[in-house]
Amino acid sequence: MATLNKRFFQVLFFFMAFAVLLPALHAEDGPEMDEYWKKRAEIAFEKAQNAYNPNPEEVTESVNQKVGKFMTGFINKVQHNTTRRQLMKKKYKGPCMATNPIDQCWRCDPNWGKYRKRLADCAIGFGRNTIGGKKGRFYIVNDTSDDIVNPKPGTLRYGVIQKKPLWIVFARSMIIRLKEELMVTCDKTIDGRGSNVHIAYGAGITLQYVQNVIIHNIHVHDIVAGEGGMIRDSVDHVGFRTPSDGDGISMFGASNIWIDHVSMYRCGDGLIDAIMGSTGVTISNSHFTNHNEVMLFGANDKHNQDKLMQITVAFNHFGKGLVQRMPRCRHGFFHVVNNDYTHWLMYAIGGSMNPTIISQGNRFIAPPNGNAKEVTKRENYPESEWRHWTWRSEGDLMMNGAFFVQSGNPNFDSKSKEGMITAKPGHMVTSITRFAGTLRCKKGYSC
Ligand SMILES: *[C@@H]1O[C@H](CO)[C@@H](O)[C@H](O)[C@H]1NC(C)=O
Ligand SMILES: *[C@@H]1O[C@H](CO)[C@@H](O)[C@H](O)[C@H]1NC(C)=O
Repeated sequence: MATLNKRFFQVLFFFMAFAVLLPALHAEDGPEMDEYWKKRAEIAFEKAQNAYNPNPEEVTESVNQKVGKFMTGFINKVQHNTTRRQLMKKKYKGPCMATNPIDQCWRCDPNWGKYRKRLADCAIGFGRNTIGGKKGRFYIVNDTSDDIVNPKPGTLRYGVIQKKPLWIVFARSMIIRLKEELMVTCDKTIDGRGSNVHIAYGAGITLQYVQNVIIHNIHVHDIVAGEGGMIRDSVDHVGFRTPSDGDGISMFGASNIWIDHVSMYRCGDGLIDAIMGSTGVTISNSHFTNHNEVMLFGANDKHNQDKLMQITVAFNHFGKGLVQRMPRCRHGFFHVVNNDYTHWLMYAIGGSMNPTIISQGNRFIAPPNGNAKEVTKRENYPESEWRHWTWRSEGDLMMNGAFFVQSGNPNFDSKSKEGMITAKPGHMVTSITRFAGTLRCKKGYSC
């Protein structure tokens, strides 16, 4: 995300959050925040309020109930008790096996290609209301070129800047090298099923002040910083952007976003950032490798609007070559459930500024380094401060000496536990995340 923009929007959000008059901002007005974006910012802030759930425990509960229900009777025999995943995904040749409730919702239907939009009803967690382009037409990407001011029909950029909802699919396998950030607008699905789609070697995907976007089954990797300049961000608007940092997927004041079955690695900055009050987000079934700072939820201790943030991280595989921030959180409420953490070099989950982090049924395999066995990391604050932050671990499987330092309200979960089926225990996570990352789907066959 462009730095100048960040600073500017930070100021804007600060004022909006405290209902101070916007005209006070005029002195700050730069070319990157024109009337068009001011309007978008206002709308986004309102929508974010709507996506925010004042009782987040309810949502974690419903994810847990779904996982619980589904997994009852599920291949309990398979005890994955080793630290290796043994390339199961490539080897697997049996009948379709959907190992978590999101996948179960669509994956084993051989007609997935005919009824692509059924996917829109499959999100759970905080991003559960995301339907993307369900109400729109299909748009087929058949051109890998990228003109950032006058995108050609048939290109991905032309699709994502349209005003109407669109369900975007790909005519064939392709690598798209974006010249600058891809400025996605509201109500879009980017659906890579059936093709092998890579967004790579160029700029990343930006979800700025948008609502209702699904990103599904694509690879995003080797993203590099852009130079900025004039970029078309809507059919009727071209705006100036400062250089982008090289994030893979960057959410900025975005709400109702669902990222599923995405494979991501080697980006210039973060793989996924959600900042400036982004909320109503689910990141699921994805595979992350070879990257330092994986996920940043909240960019600055001073961004009080991030108290709105509610993000579910479920059924993902955090794999080889990862270092830290899976995720790193500020202020908001984060449910980290049934993920497989097989590699980290520094730590897995961290944060500052009183984020609530509920870790349930994950598997954490610590690295050999004796100084990096701790799953958690509190940044910049003394224990006298962080011991009030609610970070809880429930049913997590700790291997190779991994340990999670809990803090905050020890009764937090027992309160929301009433009538609640907990996440599946950590030892089932290898099965649950077995098909994390992009899937090779062929029309007429289950995925
Ligand atoms: C894992 O393996 C160890 C030793 O091989 C065994 O003692 C333990 O019961 C196993 N745990 C599970 C959950 O299968
Ligand atoms: C690509 O899609 C565009 C827009 O739908 C269309 O106008 C164009 O003819 C297509 N090109 C090819 C080669 O199919």
